[in-house]
Amino acid sequence: MKRNFRSILVTGGAGFIGSHVIRSLLKNHAEAKIVNLDLLTYAGNLENLRDIEGNAHYEFVKGDIQDRALIQSLFNEHAFDAVVHLAAESHVDRSIVNPMAFLETNILGTATLLHAAKNAWEGNMDAKCFYHISTDEVYGSLGAEGLFTEDTPYDPRSPYSSSKASSDHLVRAWHHTYGLPVVISNCSNNYGSFQFPEKLIPLMIRNIRDQRPLPVYGEGVNVRDWLWVEDHANAIDVILHNGNFGRTYNIGGLNEWRNIDLVHELIRLVDGAMGRPEGTSKSLIEYVKDRAGHDMRYAIDASRIEEELGWKPSITFEKGLAATVAWYLENSDWLDSVTSGQYQQYYQKMYSNRGEE
Ligand code: NAD
Ligand code: DAU
Repeated sequence: MKRNFRSILVTGGAGFIGSHVIRSLLKNHAEAKIVNLDLLTYAGNLENLRDIEGNAHYEFVKGDIQDRALIQSLFNEHAFDAVVHLAAESHVDRSIVNPMAFLETNILGTATLLHAAKNAWEGNMDAKCFYHISTDEVYGSLGAEGLFTEDTPYDPRSPYSSSKASSDHLVRAWHHTYGLPVVISNCSNNYGSFQFPEKLIPLMIRNIRDQRPLPVYGEGVNVRDWLWVEDHANAIDVILHNGNFGRTYNIGGLNEWRNIDLVHELIRLVDGAMGRPEGTSKSLIEYVKDRAGHDMRYAIDASRIEEELGWKPSITFEKGLAATVAWYLENSDWLDSVTSGQYQQYYQKMYSNRGEE
């Protein structure tokens, strides 16, 4: 390992990927203290971290990454030597309805963190690391052929992806202008436990469980490259400790699925687990109005991270998806609690006017 850290600020650690990252860092780096800064928006949930909340090396702080005074005081108090920045507004559909929240958190929030890190580390950038977690959506949309490499020109299409692209540019600017030691990774679609059920896989599992309509956007032929979230958390650990500064690493699952095929696979798994005859839930599929600006295909060339850092996915999709379905069905309380209250209103608003295609 090239680097070791004593004090790590993780932002967005109460979210889906962040909670797995914190668990993985605590497990693999017992010497490090982890401070989790999270605003606990609708997507953040301390239940996601229940198993480690008593760990003496872990501390939670509720707050906004745009709060300059708070961030500065945290740097003063904890003398962070690394920042692992995941906090973001992350759902494309929400970005279409409310883009400003995405620009504020994803762009201004990232700038606030960069500014604080630069001020805290100025004159002594050695053994520090600012790690920005980004998405493959910054590269735009692929046709039937080709893969996103780290050199693919940026071409974001949604308010979400363009806000993430902007934040990537800011991170590189702070590296080139101020010498901030940064790394960036751009990852494909994650799946696994603790994902907020507005996203495709947990949304479909919940609706199949409850025998509710399964809203497939457009013709269901858009393609996504799915990665087990614990493999992403492991890649983040590897890049944080070994990645070259100023460098970008693409992370992907080598695992492309058309949405409709994935929905059929989830029907098979959930119906099977619930003891229903095969194909019971197929009639629930509803082709609904397409997402505006819907990117057709994402697929990642992850050869750089494999060749330079020795990382590759550890688990097959077959295994990971079966484990994921089992987790959501066994954790119905979690699924039900995060989808109560405000989420009901969101679901009504988002899906009631989509109708059938
Ligand atoms: P998520 O929506 O599940 O979690 C986001 C977390 O950030 C939540 O805990 C939320 O409370 C917190 N947050 C939001 N605004 C905040 C603010 N202003 N201040 C502090 N905390 C705030 O997201 P996720 O799916 O876990 O994604 C995490 C990161 O990984 C994001 O940056 C996302 O762009 C990136 N990413 C996600 C995927 C994916 O498939 N989910 C793939 C590639 C990259
Ligand atoms: O590629 C990485 C990105 O993956 C991350 O940066 C984002 O944070 C994450 O949300 C995810 O974005 P997508 O838009 O690809 O994920 P989502 O789960 O929203 O949708 C996956 C596909 O399924 C997409 O083609 C839209 C479609 N879809 C989605 C929902 C919620 C449906 O057909 N029906 C649905 O109800």
